[in-house]
Amino acid sequence: MSEIKTIGVVGAGTMGNGIAQLAAQMGANVIMRDIKDDFVQRGLKAIDKFLSKGVERGKVTPEQKAAVLGRVIGTTDMGELAKCDFIIEAVIEDLDLKKQVFSELDSICKPETILATNTSSMSITLIAAATKRQDKVVGMHFFNPVPLMRLVEIIHGYNTSDETVKITTELAQKMGKETVEVKVDSPGFIVNRLMIPHMIEAVKLLEEGVATREDIDKALKLGLNYPMGPFELMDFTGMPWMAFSDTHLGAVEHLVQVAGVARPVSPALTGLPRLAETWLVLYETLHDVLACAKSQDMGHPERLAFIRNLASSALASVEQD
Ligand SMILES: NC(=O)c1ccc[n+]([C@@H]2O[C@H](COP(=O)([O-])OP(=O)(O)OC[C@H]3O[C@@H](n4cnc5c(N)ncnc54)[C@H](O)[C@@H]3O)[C@@H](O)[C@H]2O)c1
Repeated sequence: MSEIKTIGVVGAGTMGNGIAQLAAQMGANVIMRDIKDDFVQRGLKAIDKFLSKGVERGKVTPEQKAAVLGRVIGTTDMGELAKCDFIIEAVIEDLDLKKQVFSELDSICKPETILATNTSSMSITLIAAATKRQDKVVGMHFFNPVPLMRLVEIIHGYNTSDETVKITTELAQKMGKETVEVKVDSPGFIVNRLMIPHMIEAVKLLEEGVATREDIDKALKLGLNYPMGPFELMDFTGMPWMAFSDTHLGAVEHLVQVAGVARPVSPALTGLPRLAETWLVLYETLHDVLACAKSQDMGHPERLAFIRNLASSALASVEQD
């Protein structure tokens, strides 16, 4: 493959604008696409804001900031991505949407262009199946906040070629990241597959009365040298908030369906922040809710509204307790 000079980013949200910034910092020209100009502008502003803080702290010069911003073009036109050498998709966590985006990219991009997805949990193989270049579709999982977190998981789909994994790994490293190779397309890959069960077990320990929340956090910090305990991590990563975000709801929904992750909830959770509790109640009932939503033939937006309604009722009942 010839040199990667122009990188396309699909989605200008939390992850997309961070990835676009990183690619521009590496020296690439970047085309960042979202569905509405407001979203594109919000993404560009987020990059500007991040770099301005860097200037204030003396980590970035005003010239560097201007050069990075000058390399990012925002657009709502999917056709603009045709000129890209490498594309990273960061739209919301919805399999049908991702498949649609990949099918469209496949039809407009050069045959040699690699299409990477930043999905947190979904099957690279299924996403790749929407294209006629399954060997050139790969998982490239960044972490939030993208400019600061050091890891990128590089994930093989069933038909991803070793050459694609090699080029993607080199690109992530050129962006200043450490990489790990996920050799099998498994839900949650490495990090989320380990993170979610450890949080679930922490909550079970609490509700079984085995230890206090503080002691569970302390045990993992001092016993395993974790920088944060599981409850601290839930608060820090905004787990409660996840339940209300379209993006994360998709990820949780998918993990519940594919990995069969589910957990019981008891009133012993009252020590948790109010929203965390709601998130866990929601998480537990997601299985039933999804089954119900599906049996009523709801599409994604209606399903989200339905689940949000349920979350409000759960929150109201938590407040009454
Ligand atoms: N936020 C995180 O902590 C995190 C971490 C790792 C991976 N991820 C994954 O990254 C992806 C994006 O997450 P996010 O947090 O940036 O979501 P986000 O909601 O902040 O941004 C998603 C963006 O995609 C846009 N979009 C929707 N359809 C589009 C289309 N057809 N073309 C272009 N843009 C479109 C939306 O308008 C939105 O601006 C998801 O797959 C998510 O699971 C998220």
